[in-house]
Amino acid sequence: MQKKFNAGIVGLGTYVPDRILTNLELQQIVETSDEWIRTRTGIKERRIAAPEQATSDLAYESAKRALESSGVTPNEIDLIIVATNTPDMFFPATGCIIQERLNAQRAAAFDLEAGCTGFIYGLVAADAFISSGIYKTVLVIGADILSRVVNWKDRNTCVLFGDGAGAAVLRPVETDRGILSVCLGSDGSGAENLTIPAGGSRLPTSLKTLEEDLHYIHMNGRDVFKFAVKAMGDASKKVIAGAGLKQEDIDFLVPHQANIRIIESAAKRLKLPMDKVLVTVDRYGNNSTASIPLALEEAVEDGRIKDGQNIVLVGFGAGLTWGAVAMRWGSTGIL
Ligand code: UT7
Repeated sequence: MQKKFNAGIVGLGTYVPDRILTNLELQQIVETSDEWIRTRTGIKERRIAAPEQATSDLAYESAKRALESSGVTPNEIDLIIVATNTPDMFFPATGCIIQERLNAQRAAAFDLEAGCTGFIYGLVAADAFISSGIYKTVLVIGADILSRVVNWKDRNTCVLFGDGAGAAVLRPVETDRGILSVCLGSDGSGAENLTIPAGGSRLPTSLKTLEEDLHYIHMNGRDVFKFAVKAMGDASKKVIAGAGLKQEDIDFLVPHQANIRIIESAAKRLKLPMDKVLVTVDRYGNNSTASIPLALEEAVEDGRIKDGQNIVLVGFGAGLTWGAVAMRWGSTGIL
């Protein structure tokens, strides 16, 4: 379909909880070491939501900040998409909770679940709504509280994850700016490599599922690692070519922050030096759908990402899913 508009990010906002959980503290909880976590994952610390905070609380803070930075008012929002794996509850959608809290009276709202690739899926959905002319202003939020679904007795997973939220306001932008090319994928044959088995309609909550710890994340780390490196490399190459660019034209890669070794291997595949790769995994761990907007906002705020630069956002996650977006940065809407 012919694009009517190019969609671009006209404002970003993020939120992480105050509580920092260090590797040294984790050493007191499970049989692990600061040295193992740092060398095998690159993580030094992560943020943990306060007991009274739910995903919508983190999402709301990031959304407020994204609206402030874009100058968009809640009443101008046409659609709210919340990408999350840890919604406040089964239903209603966390997006509807945000709609009410923002008082975004005109906005439609829904949640989207695509593992840690959720924020990329959200951007691609927003791009489709905007470029086709259906909607003008879309708020995409990635928010997760994985600390609530991590088994704190399982050292294979509990050292990896953290909590956070990131939001982006998308609008039509000039034709040589914004989202240039997209790629999404899924492979359900790898579903069991990263899953929360119980609590849904397949295995409803029971005493047995609780006793067997089936409400927590179960992960085959090695298989996810191998998949991640290939999927991030391939998806990035696809969107770079789709945008008519070459790998050397990319100013910044904004990868999902799961493990520094995955990020370095993907960068190597793309022949990108690490000074062109955004990294926050050391400070936040893997906060799932929030990791890409958190890394992006930080680099926009500190001036590393500038108008006219080519960037690639790329992620992978449970599903299994993967996705990438090539953009030319420019945060001025043409509405
Ligand atoms: O958003 C997507 C979410 N998931 C991911 O991105 C996960 C991708 N996978 C990974 O990042 C890595 O596979 C892990 C960090 C999970 C594991 O690193 P690895 O280098 O693949 O280690 P491994 O699973 O091969 O385990 C090596 C050893 C094992 O001991 P043995 O069997 O060799 O004696 C583990 O039991 O390390 C042990 N180990 C630990 N030791 C200390 C695993 N976790 C820990 C730990 N502390 N926290």
